[in-house]
Amino acid sequence: MLQKFDVIVIGAGAAGLMCAAQAAARGRSVLVVDHANKAGKKILMSGGGRCNFTNYFVAPDKYLSHNPHFCKSALKRYTQWDFIALVESHGVAYHEKKDGQLFCDNKASDILNMLLSECEQQSVQIWLDTAVRDIAQTAQSGCRYQMKAGGRLLGCESLVVATGGPSIPTLGATGFGYELAQQFGLKVYPPRAGLVPFTLTDHNKQLSESLSGTALSIEVECAGQIFRDDMLFTHRGLSGPAMLQISSYWQPGLSLSINLLPEQDVAALLRQLQHERPKLTLKNWLAELTTQKFAEHWLASSVWQQSTLAQLSGADMDAIAEGLHQWQVKPAGTEGYRTAEVALGGVDTAELSSKTMEAQRFPGLFFIGEVVDVTGHLGGFNFQWAWSSAVAAAEFV
Ligand code: FDA
Repeated sequence: MLQKFDVIVIGAGAAGLMCAAQAAARGRSVLVVDHANKAGKKILMSGGGRCNFTNYFVAPDKYLSHNPHFCKSALKRYTQWDFIALVESHGVAYHEKKDGQLFCDNKASDILNMLLSECEQQSVQIWLDTAVRDIAQTAQSGCRYQMKAGGRLLGCESLVVATGGPSIPTLGATGFGYELAQQFGLKVYPPRAGLVPFTLTDHNKQLSESLSGTALSIEVECAGQIFRDDMLFTHRGLSGPAMLQISSYWQPGLSLSINLLPEQDVAALLRQLQHERPKLTLKNWLAELTTQKFAEHWLASSVWQQSTLAQLSGADMDAIAEGLHQWQVKPAGTEGYRTAEVALGGVDTAELSSKTMEAQRFPGLFFIGEVVDVTGHLGGFNFQWAWSSAVAAAEFV
């Protein structure tokens, strides 16, 4: 027998739960189906367990998409301030870490519990451990889509796809949303890992390996984008927020230009110190600005390894400055979906209404959250897209 709902949401993640609660608050009967054994697994592990749930400085230029204008409408109609108000109404304690990034004081589960309690208050049904298959459009009024799930035949007027992207498959992430879009003939931009660490293979890999655990505050440039933040050397390559940010813009074959001392003018500083502290070794000078370990490994194979500042020529100082201000690194690749925070690409926004998230050619079919070709920078922007796109759809499902 066909079991009917006004709205079926596939995916009990950030966007799916938000959309379900808001649609049910409008009086719609809502079912959320998820194949995982727990709702909101990515929320729970986000922000190092504290969920960076939004950012004070949400703006369209913090998002990558083949259509940079698409995100504007949803972000404007449900803002970071709206989500902060919701968080405050649930008494969730939070703080700004830096650059407008808002984190829970306690645990990421505060955000998940808030969403689950909103769903419960509005009598949303959530079926976990339930795979969905055989989704098809129907010609019946009030039941535009049918599918099989949990051994039952289900029907709904509005079907919301909120299955996220394929990053971290161990958390239940799949490319299901892309496949469903393609089943309906919608264009999907091929997904690729974003906000992900780089892997290295050449001599830079040895350097990274020996410096593993060392963090520096740097500036990185690639493909016309610049980020200034921390970089972490790892056993396999380069990580840390600056590297994650630039990874979303990097393409295979491109080099990164890294300024290891962005606060300094190294050439001018060395010339000045040559007079003031001529006996200082280059290594000790560099250790003062970075760390002892970095200075040792950075200079390990250089001709200036034992040099004092007095021994450096003008050309030496310029070469040292260039090396530190424009370290050229050509990554071998990235760590891929195993550790990526997001997937770039996804359902082409040209297929969707920016006001409602509904597929232009398929009334009643909605795509929200990460499955759409809208990807935020690091810093709470991806969750804000999940909330904003979810609320946009919830008004029309
Ligand atoms: P989300 O991935 O949240 O939910 C998708 C749901 O669909 C999952 O429950 C999944 O099980 C389900 N699903 C998948 N395939 C299915 C199928 N075939 N059938 C049924 N269900 C299916 N962002 C941010 O702004 N701040 C942060 O601090 C972080 N931190 C962070 C850490 C880590 C480790 C990761 C991996 C990611 C982040 N992110 C983040 C990104 C953020 O988690 C992400 O952008 C949102 O969770 C996307 O929300 P969605 O609801 O679109 O997908």
